[in-house]
Amino acid sequence: MKKKAVATALVLTMALGAGALAGCATERAGYTGNDDIPTGAPPLMPPTHVGRADNLGAAGCYGCHGANDLANPMLNGATALPDDHYKDGNVETKKIEPTREQCITCHPQG
Ligand code: HEC
Ligand code: HEC
Repeated sequence: MKKKAVATALVLTMALGAGALAGCATERAGYTGNDDIPTGAPPLMPPTHVGRADNLGAAGCYGCHGANDLANPMLNGATALPDDHYKDGNVETKKIEPTREQCITCHPQG
């Protein structure tokens, strides 16, 4: 029994280790569909996002991913918008850069 417990612990350690390595390789939050998206290219919207673009528009995206006076991003756990998504490339403007308003032209549903 004791041997088995040790073996189980080892397997767990290895599995967790692999997960940690995968995290380092991608630096993308949550959705594995984005693991193959190269750095610098726009990631897809995760499956949790179905309908959000139509229902909420860019302002809705901003409500979770954007910055306000208290938090950046507003929703803890959402990915913060890169600086270049803000007007003048400056997060302090707290406004979306006009050429970035059509979020889904670059971030299709995954
Ligand atoms: C209700 C809050 C919320 C709204 C609204 C929202 N998102 Fe998200 N988004 C998240 C969270 C949280 C994540 C992190 C992954 C997850 O848990 O699904 C995420 C992940 C993403 C990702 C993947 C980022 C990465 O690095 O993998 C993209 C792209 C994205 N959202 C774009 C959008 C766009 C575009 C909109 C508007 C159509 C939007 N989101 C609306 C909360 C939101
Ligand atoms: C013209 C194309 C374009 C538009 C429009 C655009 N994005 Fe992006 N977005 C990108 C690119 C390219 C990246 C990756 C930047 C990088 O990795 O440095 C990115 C990155 C992101 C990230 C961070 C992903 C990460 O892993 O750090 C989020 C969140 C995001 N965009 C959300 C949005 C939202 C919300 C909108 C609409 C308000 C939007 N984007 C509009 C091209 C675009």
